[in-house]
Amino acid sequence: MNHTAVRLRSVTRSYGRNTGAVTALDGVCLDVPRGTFTAVMGPSGSGKSTLLQCAAGLDRPTAGQVFLGDTELTGLSERKLTLLRRTRIGFVFQAFNLLPALTAEQNVALPLRLAGRRPKRAEVLDVLERVGLRERAGHRPGELSGGQQQRVALARALITRPDVLFGDEPTGALDSTTGRQVLTLLRTMVDDGQTVIMVTHDPVAASYADRVLFLADGRVRDELPDPSAEQVAARMTRMAVASC
Ligand SMILES: Nc1ncnc2c1ncn2[C@@H]1O[C@H](COP(=O)(O)OP(=O)(O)O)[C@@H](O)[C@H]1O
Ligand SMILES: [Mg+2]
Repeated sequence: MNHTAVRLRSVTRSYGRNTGAVTALDGVCLDVPRGTFTAVMGPSGSGKSTLLQCAAGLDRPTAGQVFLGDTELTGLSERKLTLLRRTRIGFVFQAFNLLPALTAEQNVALPLRLAGRRPKRAEVLDVLERVGLRERAGHRPGELSGGQQQRVALARALITRPDVLFGDEPTGALDSTTGRQVLTLLRTMVDDGQTVIMVTHDPVAASYADRVLFLADGRVRDELPDPSAEQVAARMTRMAVASC
């Protein structure tokens, strides 16, 4: 079995051409071991979202290779990539992106339907139980708090048992108490074997991870293992000074 969940090899992603060209990612190499929690930080525009989207098969690099376990995503047909995204990747966003007309249970079941499976009720309720919302299964997003909606989004991302769960600022829209609940949940999932990669601006959020990667100008400039919030904040301050 491959112990690397995600591997990036010299991944470059540019937009536009000639004088208007922007290099969002500039030759990024990265190995993410299975069952670990990685936080990605960096100034606005440093390429964090692009990194996540390329790693998750939501975007295609201009050059380089991306692997999910043994599968090379770069080079897969659009059809195969779509299938892989539906079955092996989970993604949560800052805006929870739940369908407002559907109940929590129906939202969580949706990825299975899209993958052509008939969801078992017990399976869906079980995932809702994991995020502490089994008793809210019949509620629509408008009847839930922000933190509860993000937990439904987490359950929806986990229903297919993805190899990797990606989060682009998943606590960015939550107050700090609710954010901590979501982070504790993510940490528990990683301790149970889930691989998680999360973009965040918040040093406290990053401190829940096993490792923090610091991006600047589309490159991984630094990393910090077993981070404390204080270490992360100090490193970010130093990076900001260095780039002036
Ligand atoms: N679709 C796009 N078209 C053109 N430029 C883009 C596009 N998406 C991102 N970029 C540019 O790529 C760089 C990195 O963006 P992004 O990955 O969103 O950064 P971050 O998430 O760190 O704020 C930025 O300069 C941004 O303007
Ligand atoms: Mg972003």
